[in-house]
Amino acid sequence: RVNRVTESLAQPNPADGADLFTTAGRIADLKRRYDEAVTAPSAAAEAKQHAKGKQTARERIEQLLDPGSFVELDEFVRHRTTAFGMDRSRPYGDAVVTGTGTIHGRQVAVYSQDFTVFGGSLGEVAGEKIIKVMDLALKTGVPILGILDSGGARIQEGVVALGKYGEIFRRNTAASGVIPQISIIMGPAAGGAVYSPALTDFVIMVDKTSQMFVTGPDVIKTVTGEDVGMEELGGALTHNTRSGVAHYLAEDESDALDYARSLVSYLPDNNLAELPEYPTEVDLETSDSDRKLNVLIPDSPNQPYDVKTVIEHVVDGGEFLEVQPLFAPNIVIGFARVEGRPVGIVANQPQAMAGTLNIEAGEKASRFVRFCDAFSIPILTLVDVPGYLPGTDQEWTGVIRRGAKLLYAYAEATVPLVTVILRKAYGGAYIVMGSKQLGADINLAWPTAEIAVMGGQGAVNILYRGEIKRAEEAGEDVAAVRTKLANEYTYNVASPFLAAERGELDGVIEPAATRVAVIKALRSLKTKRASLPPKKHGNIPL
Ligand code: HXC
Repeated sequence: RVNRVTESLAQPNPADGADLFTTAGRIADLKRRYDEAVTAPSAAAEAKQHAKGKQTARERIEQLLDPGSFVELDEFVRHRTTAFGMDRSRPYGDAVVTGTGTIHGRQVAVYSQDFTVFGGSLGEVAGEKIIKVMDLALKTGVPILGILDSGGARIQEGVVALGKYGEIFRRNTAASGVIPQISIIMGPAAGGAVYSPALTDFVIMVDKTSQMFVTGPDVIKTVTGEDVGMEELGGALTHNTRSGVAHYLAEDESDALDYARSLVSYLPDNNLAELPEYPTEVDLETSDSDRKLNVLIPDSPNQPYDVKTVIEHVVDGGEFLEVQPLFAPNIVIGFARVEGRPVGIVANQPQAMAGTLNIEAGEKASRFVRFCDAFSIPILTLVDVPGYLPGTDQEWTGVIRRGAKLLYAYAEATVPLVTVILRKAYGGAYIVMGSKQLGADINLAWPTAEIAVMGGQGAVNILYRGEIKRAEEAGEDVAAVRTKLANEYTYNVASPFLAAERGELDGVIEPAATRVAVIKALRSLKTKRASLPPKKHGNIPL
């Protein structure tokens, strides 16, 4: 076999008649091979992919990276498999395109699976190409973005293909917290192959044309008898709303690639690199836009408002890149900039489930807090949380174990932590949402804040049981008595000034002062240094 390959390399190409033993002949031969590896397959792939409403592996890379910045690696790689007559087809590049390029002028590494070659399946050499570019990304400390469109492990190659997945998973894990890893799913990701994106920091899926599942509809039907379609089982909507596997539901491929580019603009190259900074002049005078926050909180504590309005009035240009907007909407997470520098934002959303914390919200926020901490992105926490969601469902599915993750994430974080309590901050939920005691650096509250063990109504039921009974016996308006006592409790006991008196808050501020207060807090924390005791790693409750 080796001889055959060597012979084929030494043959002058009869088509152009170039003499291979001259420099011009060698250059002509290179061009011919490049055309065979890149130009011709691209044209063939276009027809196949476009027919399915999808772009080719190379078109996707072109759109993801800055124009003309892509430098390909390994376009001449070919597989060596002979089983199942595979040696009759040995296309250059195999089933994945890899290389480096830039996004907003910053270096990144990329791979893009080519579904038109053996269904984008991962055999020995496609695996080796991905591993090589991952190693390069790790070695050079740059983000890696993977575009997945693949039938999974190459069936003809068996254990060799499985082994390559193992090597990829190990690198995903080694790279976790060292370089940002983003997965963009643009076709199938089936079987154990889904675990590479699962190990990365962000998973972007395209509506209707991407699917992720460990076992497909046919296997499910055979084993459990359940009838479920591919889209319902593992489509983009499912993973964005139900499973929480995905972080963004893109309406099409362009939207997915744009989102990935925006995401990168907030992230440092690696865990030791400076944050990307955009020089920005901020106005330190209170503006009309700032004053709008003074009328945001409704007078009734049970009325919701949109916490994203607060975010938009605090961050640069009102620009907020939300992450996982469709999953656990009772907590909002995402990136923004304050004075040109990235911040991660975690905020309770009173508009969804009154902003209560449940398992999904806790897990969503804790992974985000840990991401920000790993990459030195300061965290701004906006609190309006009435407590944990009660119920047997929550208790029995492990709200104790799974809810503990958010405590762990905040308590472990050493990045600058700024917390603003907007309204409710009750019970354990007060502690978990970036409280002083968990390690936050600057804690502020609006005068509308209510900080206590429980809400007024609940407290009255326990503290004033006797008084309410007396009112009942005296034929008084019990509801009115209850409300009066609850209001008194909220004003006197849950008052932010009580917390401020004890230094648990660093200040109580007018809502209109929030933007400037956050800018100044982050300025003061820019040089923060903190560390944890040396350890191999902690044991976060999983
Ligand atoms: C080799 C594959 C392949 C695979 C697809 N192809 N998957 N070749 N290994 N895993 C080939 C097909 O034979 C076909 O070749 C071409 O790719 C296009 O596939 P189609 O089936 O025609 O495409 P489509 O109808 O769009 O269906 C896509 C698909 C389906 C849903 C992905 O191909 C499929 O179910 N494939 C198998 C998926 C799977 O079970 N993979 C193993 C998962 S386990 P021709 O020559 O006809 O064009 C796994 C383990 C990872 O990955 C281990 C980690 C520990």
